[in-house]
Amino acid sequence: MTVHFIGAGPGAPDLLTLRGRDIIASCPVCLYAGSLVPEAILDHCPPGARIVNTAPMDLDQIIAEIRTAHAAGQDVARLHSGDLSVWSAMGEQMRRLRAEGIPVSVTPGVPAFAAAAASLGAELTLPGLAQSVVLTRTPGRASSMPEGETLTNFAATGATLAIHLSIQNLARVVADLTPAYGADCPVAVVYRASWPDEKIIRATLADIQDRLDGSVQRTALILVGPALAGEGFDESCLYAVDYDRRYRPQSADSPWSGWTPEGQ
Ligand SMILES: C[S@@+](CC[C@H](N)C(=O)[O-])C[C@H]1O[C@@H](n2cnc3c(N)ncnc32)[C@H](O)[C@@H]1O
Repeated sequence: MTVHFIGAGPGAPDLLTLRGRDIIASCPVCLYAGSLVPEAILDHCPPGARIVNTAPMDLDQIIAEIRTAHAAGQDVARLHSGDLSVWSAMGEQMRRLRAEGIPVSVTPGVPAFAAAAASLGAELTLPGLAQSVVLTRTPGRASSMPEGETLTNFAATGATLAIHLSIQNLARVVADLTPAYGADCPVAVVYRASWPDEKIIRATLADIQDRLDGSVQRTALILVGPALAGEGFDESCLYAVDYDRRYRPQSADSPWSGWTPEGQ
């Protein structure tokens, strides 16, 4: 018996990995975080599966469900939105399961920031503008932030920021970022990326608050940084015509000349 943690993706049911789909289909028990996991993904559960929405449950109740499946020798598919590596609450469940000797596996999913970037048609790391993406959030009712992980500290790097769980703190986000990024820095708010009711609002730090009409209250990402402009960046060396590299040696003297991939 194994508990399979599966990243269910950002919303569109076909943004689930094939591995995730196949594991779901093989598990007689499925626990899903109903607030963000689309119900259509549950169609992959086998007939007769026990399907439980964990949104109204606490951690003890979730572990009790898993314990029951474990006692019956039944594999569990545990679905969380996006990917499991960020804000999934997988860590606390895994700690309890490991303490009880219950085996686990992890299958990644498409994270919300990647879905939002895709909806924007944006590369978040553009040469000369930004080469780092910071996945972060602001403090919420249930979570404080560790000292040092402040927006002003991240802003000092000039990186592209993907700010989660924070649309209700937009005024604070704008106030904290404007000194470092400037009022004309591009911002995009992507609400429910990849869902049928997705909304995209492009603006600047100066006018993003006026551009939101109040209909975006949750499940939105705030992306900030010069790369959001999608212009004014350099071309990468990788595809430059004269860039000497393993797959494209430029002369007989190149260290890569005559190189072939191992085993080919
Ligand atoms: C609890 S976190 C889950 C993050 C998820 N594990 C991931 O990999 O993206 C929920 C936050 O992620 C962001 N989010 C999740 N799904 C989203 C979507 N489809 N579009 C925009 N933002 C989304 C929002 O900021 C939301 O408040």
